[in-house]
Amino acid sequence: MGALVGAALLVAAGIGALGTAPATAAPDGATPLGRIVPAPAKVTPGGSAYEITAKTRIRVDDASKDARRIGGYLADVLRPSTGYRLPVTDDDAGDGIRLELSAKDKALGAEGYRLTSTGRSVTIVAHAPAGLFHGVQTLRQQLPAKAESDSRQSGPWLVAGGTVEDSPRYGYRSAMLDVSRHFFSVDKVKRYIDQLALYKINKLHLHLSDDQGWRIAIDSWPRLATYGGSTQVGGGAGGHYTKAQYKDIVRYAASRYLEVVPEIDMPSHTNAALASYAELNCDGVAPPLYTGTEVGFSSLCVNKQVTYDFVDDVVRELAALTPGKYLHIGGDEAHSTSHEDYVTFMNRVQPIVAKYGKTVVGWHQLTEATPIKGALAQYWGLDGTSAAEKAQVAAAAKNGTGLVISPADRTYLDMKYTKDTPLGLAWAGYVEVQRSYDWDPGNYLPGAPAAAVKGVEAPMWSETLSESAQVEYMAFPRLPGVAELGWSPAATHDWNTYKVRLAEQAPRWDALGIAYYKSPQVPWNG
Ligand code: ACM
Repeated sequence: MGALVGAALLVAAGIGALGTAPATAAPDGATPLGRIVPAPAKVTPGGSAYEITAKTRIRVDDASKDARRIGGYLADVLRPSTGYRLPVTDDDAGDGIRLELSAKDKALGAEGYRLTSTGRSVTIVAHAPAGLFHGVQTLRQQLPAKAESDSRQSGPWLVAGGTVEDSPRYGYRSAMLDVSRHFFSVDKVKRYIDQLALYKINKLHLHLSDDQGWRIAIDSWPRLATYGGSTQVGGGAGGHYTKAQYKDIVRYAASRYLEVVPEIDMPSHTNAALASYAELNCDGVAPPLYTGTEVGFSSLCVNKQVTYDFVDDVVRELAALTPGKYLHIGGDEAHSTSHEDYVTFMNRVQPIVAKYGKTVVGWHQLTEATPIKGALAQYWGLDGTSAAEKAQVAAAAKNGTGLVISPADRTYLDMKYTKDTPLGLAWAGYVEVQRSYDWDPGNYLPGAPAAAVKGVEAPMWSETLSESAQVEYMAFPRLPGVAELGWSPAATHDWNTYKVRLAEQAPRWDALGIAYYKSPQVPWNG
């Protein structure tokens, strides 16, 4: 790791130079090597470009099912636009596109890769399958944007010559989708997963429960989904995932090297559960379903044993469905739970998560209680958050609690860009593209040690969003910036060069059918 990071710092200046050049192609017509998002750690351009032709084969390690599957994924991306056969073969001797897993390249880590492009081949080497997959995303972005089209286009399909050596700054690079305020079908979630994968995001945080809807089937408490999931903001039909559908999402995410982090938000944000089971309420009376957008009015009954039986059942069933390491227990905006009750509740619930083998993630209010060993606190404050609140989170970080940084006034993708944005909310202010990119997660929270920062997240709350096109308009172009903050070395960070690389992504979004916000801050046409 040390060698790769050291090299990254050396070449950071090189990336800057690439980025400040005019947004034109290299002399041979290829996208200059490394002019992609997120910026790679190290780029050494040189030599001839590789051209994908009708004869190109995708050669994979015969010993690896993962390499074969990733080869198939790459072929699926490129066959419609190139019109070529692009057979995936385990005859790994020869030219073409080569995907290799290398046991000895330990320095590439769990997610790193090395891509080498010459006149004869493009070779992606990784130590682990996730690295091969991320290398394939780099290859996609090196090709012309029309490679993303689902209809046949004309080439040439050139990959600039040289070597990219790349691994992430942070292991936790997350996007959240709130499927509670509005329900999103499995197909809509899969579409978003595909978009996240292009930018090397590796966690999908699903906000599965809130006041307006419970979205996951739980066999021991069936009314949570059938009744608690039967509506959404505005009173529409809502919905929920069956266990088979949830597993399908988890599997699909895993095939794109994203780990699903499921969230059951507690003790507040629980009206859908309270409406489904009267016994969960302190007064034994179930409230009506809720379809508005207020927050902080609901609370599980902290002093009833049935509350913990409920949490145990839900966590047990959800943990069993979830191969990933994490389970998010929310903990935000418990405005109708006393501080004492909140602490009691969070401190009782965390060991339940541990009992079922999962690592606790909570919104940063978790630090008002005692975060369990290994827990992650997700910081969602903003510039105006009180110094005392920031200090409390920083103190927990000094004590060993890991941090996921998702400032509401930087990374919340549902915040309006400007006062004229037709969708979204504005309680954290307007968040234009530069504001969402131009900060450093490593030193964002005063007093928190840099080593406590495990990564970043871009949450998408859905009070105002129900269609993929709406999600995409809010995510693009801000999501790639948060992805870059999570992946790229801090030394590459520079708005003036980033905005040029970002602008060069737009034809790719056009080809993918993503209607993005054309921010005046970004030089879209070079
Ligand atoms: C939050 O935005 N309530 C975590």
